[in-house]
Amino acid sequence: MKTVPTIAAARAELKARRTGTIGLVPTMGALHAGHLALFQAAREECDTVVASLFLNPAQFNNAADLAAYPRDEARDAALAEEAGVDILFAPAATELYPTGFATWIEPAGVAEGLEGAYRPGHFRGVATVCVKLFSIIQPDIAYFGRKDAQQVAVIKQVVRDLNLPLEICVVPTVRDSDGLALSSRNVRLSPEDRATALAIPQALATHDPDAARRVLTAAGIEPEYVAIADLDGPTLAVAATVGSTRLIDNVLL
Ligand code: PAF
Repeated sequence: MKTVPTIAAARAELKARRTGTIGLVPTMGALHAGHLALFQAAREECDTVVASLFLNPAQFNNAADLAAYPRDEARDAALAEEAGVDILFAPAATELYPTGFATWIEPAGVAEGLEGAYRPGHFRGVATVCVKLFSIIQPDIAYFGRKDAQQVAVIKQVVRDLNLPLEICVVPTVRDSDGLALSSRNVRLSPEDRATALAIPQALATHDPDAARRVLTAAGIEPEYVAIADLDGPTLAVAATVGSTRLIDNVLL
């Protein structure tokens, strides 16, 4: 695996590989088995697998959440290499957002409501960084986890609306054996919080917003939202803060 910190180095590395298919897995690091499932899907389908490792400040509306986001670049690089990633694009923030950067992708439509309502500016940051990554890497296929269902729907909308020449591949949510969806933020849950958080997959298993709300309330969780929406398919989605950790999860209905 080759790690490249600059756009120029990424483009140079990819130049000779454009005759084959290129798969991109965008990540913010803190890799877990959910990311590994994305790498595996890309490895099976593409000649070259590129992963990006970039903790995108533009998509954090909460400075404390960004500051507390787990970071371990050496561990992430080792996991990516083990998973068969060919190129790890790991730029500094100034490489993607140099002084004077002033052009943003503002998704509306499916980006409104749910995460869009609770995290103002979040999808603007996600859409902008993804369009930049698509432009830098020029993948044939980009891989996203179904766990962030609204993000999937937003990215698909952006790709469609801007006629971007790539395919979006959605990989099912990976869960721990007890049902909790894997998330980089799970490491911030205390053992008690983690036990409480199991009410989230249990609530989703009802496939019903009212029943889901009751399951969450019984566990002492006050959700931000429990809603059915078309997020790349009819979806029951939940967001809730457990302890001090905000979690999201969903089930396709
Ligand atoms: O899902 C994520 O980790 C991020 O939102 C993404 C797609 C890597 C963009 O920063």
